[in-house]
Amino acid sequence: MLPGGGAGPSAEAERRQPAEYPPLGGLRRDFIWGVSTSSFQIEGATREDGRGLSVWDTYCQTGRIANHDTGDVACDHYHRYPEDVGLMQRLGVQAYRFSVAWPRLLPQGRGTPNEPGLAFYDSLIDAILKAGIEPWLCLYHWDMPQALDDLGGWTTRDSVGWFTDYAALVAARYGDRVKRFATFNEPSIFTLFGYGFGGGERATSSADRMHRTIHHVNLSHGAAVDALRARVPGSSIGVIHNYQPCLPSTPADARAADSCDTYWNRAFPDPQCLGAYPQAMQAAMEPHMQAGDLARIQRPVDWFGLNHYSPIFVKADANALLGFAFGDRPADISATPNGWPIMPDAFRDTLLTVAKRFGLPIYVLENGLGGFDKPDESGAVIDNDRIAYLRAYIGAMNAAASAGADIRGYFVWSLLDNFEWDSGYGVRFGLTYVDYPTQRRIPKASFHWYGDLIKAARLR
Ligand code: FCB
Repeated sequence: MLPGGGAGPSAEAERRQPAEYPPLGGLRRDFIWGVSTSSFQIEGATREDGRGLSVWDTYCQTGRIANHDTGDVACDHYHRYPEDVGLMQRLGVQAYRFSVAWPRLLPQGRGTPNEPGLAFYDSLIDAILKAGIEPWLCLYHWDMPQALDDLGGWTTRDSVGWFTDYAALVAARYGDRVKRFATFNEPSIFTLFGYGFGGGERATSSADRMHRTIHHVNLSHGAAVDALRARVPGSSIGVIHNYQPCLPSTPADARAADSCDTYWNRAFPDPQCLGAYPQAMQAAMEPHMQAGDLARIQRPVDWFGLNHYSPIFVKADANALLGFAFGDRPADISATPNGWPIMPDAFRDTLLTVAKRFGLPIYVLENGLGGFDKPDESGAVIDNDRIAYLRAYIGAMNAAASAGADIRGYFVWSLLDNFEWDSGYGVRFGLTYVDYPTQRRIPKASFHWYGDLIKAARLR
């Protein structure tokens, strides 16, 4: 029998762990449970219906992705979205966070919109709404149109105008049905890796280029908030940051950890929500700023989107662009199969820190476990490690809420196994297993566990 299918208890259901849930009593009654994905990681159809190329299409051609994987087919969500919306409905989520592929709407990044691309998200949004699920639309999950990158991408201040026009197009087309918008997903990751210390073809190892990019993305955020707010009555707008404690690998690495914290955790949230760059970056930002820029960046947002998986361990590296590099995790700390430390208490502390520093309602918009799941001989995917991780992390979130953090929702990354950037399809984060050769979806044990948890939480 297919996992979760048919009548009566499935073999898979019998073997999965008993439904032990973490305490949920600290969470609001109207707490929102969801799942997240992003366009490039699931859609595929990269050359269909007039879509332009993105920087990730180009990067995949460099052969640097594990197994030489590309986003060409991914989860074929472009064609299979009705089935995927059906999965969400079965899971019982109240909200679905996805991103729009800028080059699908504007193949050249600007200019004439591509009607088939616009129509795809019309159909997707309508299907989500019909399933009784609230769409959460993120404008930018790293897939910059290649045509704009060729003109300088985020390194030129022109990018602010390009992004604002794109945001206005999205607002005008979908704002009648979509009210929740995020401007950027994890700006520190694509700027630091793409333009800073990432290495490879995406980087020029230029501190100047990286600081310029940071500033233009911040300005684009502020301008997009205004563009959305002006066009969408009743909108609720935020931005999504990966806020992770930066811990020194050894006591001698404390300064390196501080530098990491400045760029990783504060280069975007501080100007966006507090109106200033961190002290340690101010001199480097100065040459790229014009009068009034900080006010342009600090536009009021309704919430803080937090992505969190683990802390990062940092070591000093005099040769690195910013004086730090990734260090080893201490031997006594356990890790997920893909090597990320499992430290739920750090999640609780991060939630409390973010709540205190920014004073905004928090939505956890990504959390999950990267593994190497495989179906067993019966075809079921029993991912008890993911269940244990989610249980511990949701428990830590409940503890933070009980201690006063204003947390309003939690979204698992991810609905589906998908294209995990440099790791290609090798690392799996899904609640649903994707058998890539056939594109068959198999809900994992964690899918059923999370669905049951949502039910239990909503019955409280
Ligand atoms: C986050 C990304 C997301 C996914 C998860 C595992 O940094 O936002 O696209 O890759 O990590």
